Amino acid sequence: MSQIKKVRGFQDIYGREAEKYRFVVDTARDIFGRYNFQEIILPFVEEVSLFERSVGEETDIVQKEMYVFEDRGGRKLALRPEGTASVVRAYIENGLYAKGGYQKLFYEGAMFRYERPQAGRYRQFHQIGAEIFGVSSPLADAELIKMVREILDRLNIEARLEINTLGDFESRKRYTEKLKEYLKDREEQLCEDCKRRLERNPLRVLDCKVEGCKEAVGNAPLLSQFLSEESKERFEKVKEYLDALGVDYTVNPSLVRGLDYYTDTVFEFVSDKIGAQGTVAAGGRYDNLVKELGGPDTPALGFAAGVERLMLLVEKLPEEKPLVSVIPVKEDYNLKALGTARDLRSKGVRTELILKEGSLKSRMKTAGKMGSKFVVFVSDRLELKDMETGSQEEVGNTESLIGLLEEKGVI
Ligand code: HAM
Repeated sequence: MSQIKKVRGFQDIYGREAEKYRFVVDTARDIFGRYNFQEIILPFVEEVSLFERSVGEETDIVQKEMYVFEDRGGRKLALRPEGTASVVRAYIENGLYAKGGYQKLFYEGAMFRYERPQAGRYRQFHQIGAEIFGVSSPLADAELIKMVREILDRLNIEARLEINTLGDFESRKRYTEKLKEYLKDREEQLCEDCKRRLERNPLRVLDCKVEGCKEAVGNAPLLSQFLSEESKERFEKVKEYLDALGVDYTVNPSLVRGLDYYTDTVFEFVSDKIGAQGTVAAGGRYDNLVKELGGPDTPALGFAAGVERLMLLVEKLPEEKPLVSVIPVKEDYNLKALGTARDLRSKGVRTELILKEGSLKSRMKTAGKMGSKFVVFVSDRLELKDMETGSQEEVGNTESLIGLLEEKGVI
């Protein structure tokens, strides 16, 4: 029979990789909790128009990368390529703005983009992300960036931080016009993608990696020349707060991001250790998006990090709890062994009741293969064997067994 393989760009995550996945996500969740973010669990499927109106019709994501399908009711749907659009939709649809104050939400889960798979780039990948709604203070920008830095620090991941400001909506529009004029004169030099971007998304030409395009934008007008006083001041404040928090950064004037909704602050955390796909986390402000999607005028900002990219950079996992395996020496002791395993688990011990049948010796071997640090032999008495030293101690009942495991630091 021919074997069915997983779909290109999709992955099975198991064993140590699954542990890494959990470690990354749990670390982020812990930090989100400390910053008082609440979780939001979002659908995987949204109407295509949501992403067209937020991420942007001319972006690579919408043009080339979305998994789009029609459901049986004829709806035009997409597997979500990112989380922000859904959070904004949910924020508006559920009237979360009416709660007063401001909202801080986080999410985690799978995203789908039909990109060319390579190390650190998959067609199904996972993000952890957070969004803040209803705050225009640059304090929020600084805190958000600091929070991402804290997640990376806790994972022991080094990544440099690049920041930029795109200015408010109006200055960005003025700049885009000027840039378009400039690029029009150099259209011949641009790659096919950028020729297409030129009309409707010229900002993206700025961060194209193709040599000809890099040359063409060499003397392009700078966004910084078009910023309003307010945008400039806001950016200064963000930098001042980051300095105060001890967060290092470099300003990269050509950082424009691949999604259309950004205004003012944008940022990326980049690692040089994982090849071309080095951006591990990215985000920024999107003060116009809530309104654009039909909600009240609400400033907002957020970030997302790629879990798989972070996993590539995690070297050490926290030590897992030692495994204690329980083996009844004969079938007659199965019932007692069930009780012993239950009692150990109730004390928080990672316990394996060896389920396989066979000789005592073969079950011992199984316990070894499963990585047991200790084995408890169950008969009329209980015996605890240390699998590393081979030493064996006898105890009368579960209570004294638990006492002994406490002494050994298992509990
Ligand atoms: P993004 O830059 O498109 O932003 O994606 C954020 C992160 O997701 C990237 O930096 C990368 O680590 C990871 N990522 C993206 N595509 C892939 C892929 N194909 N394979 C593996 N990892 C990937 C956003 O998605 C915005 N929603 C971020 C945001 C939130 N901005 C404001 N709020």
